[in-house]
Amino acid sequence: MASNRTFTMIKPDAVRGGHIGNILQKIVEGGFKIVAMKYTKLSKDTAGAFYEVHKERPFYGELVDFMSSGPIVAAILEKDNAVEDFRKLIGATNPEEAEAGTIRALYATNVGENAVHGSDSDANADIESNFHFAQTEIY
Ligand code: RTP
Ligand code: MG
Repeated sequence: MASNRTFTMIKPDAVRGGHIGNILQKIVEGGFKIVAMKYTKLSKDTAGAFYEVHKERPFYGELVDFMSSGPIVAAILEKDNAVEDFRKLIGATNPEEAEAGTIRALYATNVGENAVHGSDSDANADIESNFHFAQTEIY
């Protein structure tokens, strides 16, 4: 996959809070094109596999429980410099440290339940996109 793509999830807290529409609007206004999108729910196994890199971290169990606690929106986004620009649009992991106007500053609950995911590298954007989408679901 080209390096102008990133992968995102609107996490269960933001879906429960009714923020899907506002978050998608921020994404589109931020210049990102949605090239794949689905409304789905992760099982504990799927959430555990997705966040496998954090397996040894103390918050792993909580993270897996949270990410499988309700439906999410998964999407692939396209823009020049997508990974870096999207991390800027979502803000810091901890919403208390997120810059004003960022998606996490606006919609995150706390450091664990922080409204959105954004890939942290081109390689991970590719892996994460393929984890959630078949090539036939990307337009
Ligand atoms: P993400 O992968 O979801 O985009 O978030 P991130 O890069 O900003 O943060 P990362 O270090 O990759 O952590 C992944 C997710 O784990 C949860 N977390 N909880 N309780 C805690 O201290 C803690 N730290 C991280 C968050 O949901 C974070 O987004
Ligand atoms: Mg991360």
